[in-house]
Amino acid sequence: MFRAGGKISHRFFSAFFLVAVIPIVVMGFAMYRAAEHTLIDSAYVHIRTIAQSHATKLDTWYAERLNDIRVLSEMTSIRELCTAACAAGAGMSGITSPAVDSSLAENSLALTRGKSPAYQSIHILAPSGAVLASTDRHSEMIVTKRYLQDLERLKRSHGPVLSPPHQHSNGAWYIHLTVPVYSKDGKLIAAIFAILDAFGTIDPLLSDRVGLGNTGEAYLVNEEGKIVTQSRYLSAEQRGRTEFATLGIVSALARKNGISMYKNYMGREVLGSYTWLPRYHSALLVEMQKDEVLAPLRTIRTAVYATVGVMGLICILAAFFLSRQISRPIIDMANAARSIADGSLDRRISYSKDDEIGTLSSSFNSMANELAVLIDSLKQKEISLQQAYDELVRTQKQLIQSEKMAAIGELAASVVHEIRNPLSSVKLNFQIIGRSIDRNARLYEHYSIGLAQISQLETMLSGLLDYSKPMELESVPLDISGLVNESMQQIQPSVGSCAVELEMEDRLPQVTADPGKMRQVLVNIIHNAIDAAGQAGKVRVRVSVPEPKSDGAVLIEVSDNGPGITEQDLKRIFQPFFTTKEHGTGLGLSIVKKIMEAHMFRITVSSEKGVGTVVSLHLQRK
Ligand SMILES: Nc1ncnc2c1ncn2[C@@H]1O[C@H](COP(=O)(O)OP(=O)(O)OP(=O)(O)O)[C@@H](O)[C@H]1O
Ligand SMILES: [Mg+2]
Repeated sequence: MFRAGGKISHRFFSAFFLVAVIPIVVMGFAMYRAAEHTLIDSAYVHIRTIAQSHATKLDTWYAERLNDIRVLSEMTSIRELCTAACAAGAGMSGITSPAVDSSLAENSLALTRGKSPAYQSIHILAPSGAVLASTDRHSEMIVTKRYLQDLERLKRSHGPVLSPPHQHSNGAWYIHLTVPVYSKDGKLIAAIFAILDAFGTIDPLLSDRVGLGNTGEAYLVNEEGKIVTQSRYLSAEQRGRTEFATLGIVSALARKNGISMYKNYMGREVLGSYTWLPRYHSALLVEMQKDEVLAPLRTIRTAVYATVGVMGLICILAAFFLSRQISRPIIDMANAARSIADGSLDRRISYSKDDEIGTLSSSFNSMANELAVLIDSLKQKEISLQQAYDELVRTQKQLIQSEKMAAIGELAASVVHEIRNPLSSVKLNFQIIGRSIDRNARLYEHYSIGLAQISQLETMLSGLLDYSKPMELESVPLDISGLVNESMQQIQPSVGSCAVELEMEDRLPQVTADPGKMRQVLVNIIHNAIDAAGQAGKVRVRVSVPEPKSDGAVLIEVSDNGPGITEQDLKRIFQPFFTTKEHGTGLGLSIVKKIMEAHMFRITVSSEKGVGTVVSLHLQRK
């Protein structure tokens, strides 16, 4: 079974599919990746901007506080207080001098404290740590301890000092701002020490989560890794206890600034910005959970899937139809080739488009035309070859037969010649003896039988001579009806009581033949029919023009209702000397056949046992 058609369409389909669908899938994937990168990049920019905004807010907050305290440090009343205290030796003893009136300065401190809830308390301290004035006298011990640390730093930096955020015993987070107070001649005479509530004032700055979605947050982490400001996920207690080391925190505490994707202190994947704020000794972290950032990707993914799906489907359909369109004419061509190979030479391809396949189809069709013509001429040649071969075989047979007959004829002629003369002498002497025998005597009966046997012998000898002689025809245009009538007359003496009918068409064509030989044929055939039918039988001679009518064609059928001929005998009736009759020579039909063949006429015999026999003489050149 031919299967190439199916395979070729599959190949076309696969090729189109690969060419069309794979780029679409790759493009879809690339689009998705590009969208993901764009989203992440824009999220980084966004987070970074928020981080910068928070850093600016913190700077502003610090500048405001510094400004407040600086104003205090430059106030005349406070300077005088500090100068007086210094002169009174407060710096040495560490206690407030009772001679110095601090009420004016304390009023100024209270006013400043009232400006912002950030101020927990404000103190004026001598370099020794002695409290010169304070908004809160009860916090003396704590102030002194922290102050001494900050004072050292202040002396080193010669400017205002902001302490790292730290927890007080109440658990709250504080920052200290220490600003120096100088005398007129530039000598450090005291410092203003402000305790700032980090939790209460910086928290509100960072808790503004506008632009950070549902999962984003900004927070400060101190140098120990503890979260100083509010957290979205942890309580104040948890924050105070735990030191965190996320990638963002570790990087910022290593004094690095940047953006990255990492796991936050809750172990969740986040996009974060980390910034080291040297002034606050803290890291500023701004983070958003990756899931939330990439949430729009879900919509993009669905859109990409849908687009790729629809485009893919369109491509599959297009590939299917395109492959069919291209492979169909090829399959048709293959089927046509197979049909032609199976013998349907009239099969052609009907493809009218003016393209390569069209050219191929027309080439195929003209090839098929030429093939049909070629095969036709081959068939004609085969037929004429067969005819020539048949003719050759027939001629060869005739040649062999005529040579055989010539040899037999020669032998028979000499035998007949040798026998005939003595037989004539025997017959003559037999007749002389017969004249002297009384016709009524018993001996005369024997004489008659002997004479009859001699006559039969003579008939056989002349028949043998006839059969073995080379056939020489004297053909003339023959009147068939005259021939048939003469033959009927000739057999008349042997008809007896047998019913012989003649049926003849009126207008018979002329046939060229030897009249004497043809009469011999007809007489022989009718004799055989009468012999077979017997005295009570029927013989019919029918002369007609066979269908389809043609010039010079006549059919003579001689039928009888005799016993018929067995199938076995039918094969032998034309052999010389084959006879089933007591006094027959068996040469009748052999001579008939010889005459018919010499005329190139045909003789056929059909017989049915118990029904009768029909002998047909086809007087028509083969
Ligand atoms: N019409 C027929 N019906 C039945 N048998 C036939 C018929 N014609 C011929 N035969 C058979 O064919 C044999 C050969 O016939 P053929 O004419 O050659 O010789 P014959 O008739 O026997 O002898 P002869 O012709 O010398 O009288 C016959 O003996 C007969 O058996
Ligand atoms: Mg006969």
